[in-house]
Amino acid sequence: MADGLRKGLASYGDAGFSLFLRKAFIKAMGYSDDALNRPIVGITNTYSDYNPCHGNVPQIIEAVKRGVMLTGAMPMVFPTISIAESFSHPTSMYLRNLMAMDTEEMIRAQPMDAVVVIGGCDKTLPAQIMAAVSADLPTVVIPVGPMVVGHHKGEVLGACTDCRRLWGKYRAGEIDDDEIEAVNGRLAPSVGTCMVMGTASTMACITEALGLSLPMSATIPAPHAERFRSAESSGKVAAAMAKAKGPKPSEFLTPASFRNAQVVLQAIGGSTNGLIHLTAIAHRSPHKIDLETFDRLGREVPVLVDLKPSGEHYMEHFHHAGGVPKLMAQLGDLIDLDAKTITGQTLRDVVAAAEDVPGQDAIRPRDNPIKSEGAMAVLRGNLAPRGAVIKQSAASPKLLQHTGRAVVFDSVEEMTLRVDDPALDVNADDVLVLRNAGPKGAPGMPEAGYLPIPKKLARGGVKDMVRISDARMSGTAFGTIVLHITPESAVGGPLALVKNGDMIRLDVAKRSIDLLVDTAELEKRRAALAPAATPDWARRGYAHLFNETILQADEGCDFDFMREQGKG
Ligand code: FES
Repeated sequence: MADGLRKGLASYGDAGFSLFLRKAFIKAMGYSDDALNRPIVGITNTYSDYNPCHGNVPQIIEAVKRGVMLTGAMPMVFPTISIAESFSHPTSMYLRNLMAMDTEEMIRAQPMDAVVVIGGCDKTLPAQIMAAVSADLPTVVIPVGPMVVGHHKGEVLGACTDCRRLWGKYRAGEIDDDEIEAVNGRLAPSVGTCMVMGTASTMACITEALGLSLPMSATIPAPHAERFRSAESSGKVAAAMAKAKGPKPSEFLTPASFRNAQVVLQAIGGSTNGLIHLTAIAHRSPHKIDLETFDRLGREVPVLVDLKPSGEHYMEHFHHAGGVPKLMAQLGDLIDLDAKTITGQTLRDVVAAAEDVPGQDAIRPRDNPIKSEGAMAVLRGNLAPRGAVIKQSAASPKLLQHTGRAVVFDSVEEMTLRVDDPALDVNADDVLVLRNAGPKGAPGMPEAGYLPIPKKLARGGVKDMVRISDARMSGTAFGTIVLHITPESAVGGPLALVKNGDMIRLDVAKRSIDLLVDTAELEKRRAALAPAATPDWARRGYAHLFNETILQADEGCDFDFMREQGKG
């Protein structure tokens, strides 16, 4: 197969002319024949003025290019979509699959022998990896790295667990306008991704566990010099892969790799979004994620990483404690150490090189875990026939078994309008229900599952309530929150049948979530539901494609035609 500049020629009916034309045009950039005859390493540029999390991408790219050239290959940088959480309407999840398609097709369309994909802000790493697995070219993944921590009045702050905590205090009247403004300037003190165990950190750790990035690359802070040395090394590895024509993702990602990723997801107290993204990545390969297996692993795998929101520390502390290699060393036989990585090493080699840091307390030993069970539990019941998830490590223990009266919100908009209404009939023992916030319903399954505690209860000191929805939740959030109820209400899932005042029972130990209403009544309610129709927002363009082909949460919310087997 042709390589370097000769790969994938544009079609003019004459291959010689196609190459002649390609070289003529690329020479306009000042490249020599020597440069153009080298193996090519493509580098995705996901920098954007709208994406502060990716603020160090230009420096990372320079370092990668240096590594590629030091190894005798040629770097070629190309742009892909960049998605930042707080700049993506209606929600970044709506755009993840678009980014994955963009990256996959540009890897396919342009000549390159290996590719370095750069991501970080929540949806970008999963999008890049989904693309890389589908394109199946030798790939090195580089996370941009976490921000360093902020400080306020002697307290360490982290985006965005403390964004939510302090906003909650502001809503409850515990801090005033001036203080919330001061906090606003201190929560994100550098470029990089959120420095708690949110989705970005979760996906970076999963990437390392899958062997798709270099050891320690998940945790090195974004502004640190080490981040750029790691990028240079990543460039060297990518150039070596380009010369060797491998390994491709299909050659080293095995069922063991995906099992390891699930173990790490549980042990880090990872984001619930991580489960959706890992499922989507696995569905791009022949190896699938099964919710039952994930839940079973969760019963065996303790949470060992003491990071917010499940614990106390931040990503830079995890890094200085030894990072993912040290975590995998502590997990011992729960990790399959024969799994391979991009460098050709096994995880056994990675773990053997893990640093021992005396006195560190960010990575616990197995006999002294943060939680004896994993971060997440999978629930089923008449409310969630195809599953739901709860991050039990960030929930209130006393609410993990709870029966309460449903207070129903029909949409995110309705919830926003009504939740703080002093006339809302709600008390602390109720179960807040949000529906029409799933993959199709909202659309894009926004991170609205962290329903705010109604102001009148927050002011009375209520910090947590059972909240359930078909939405997602930011990995930086905490509380007794049941998410990803599948099927979602917009496609007729049982959440659509709940009425105000119904009783709902949550029992995490039994892994159940049930609506305590008899079947005959539920059937009556189902018969009265309005038939599904194409919503106005989905009549044209990407929105139409999204609405027609988006899969449910248990299948990773990918488009049905993008899975490994294609449509059907
Ligand atoms: Fe980009 Fe949190 S907003 S990682």
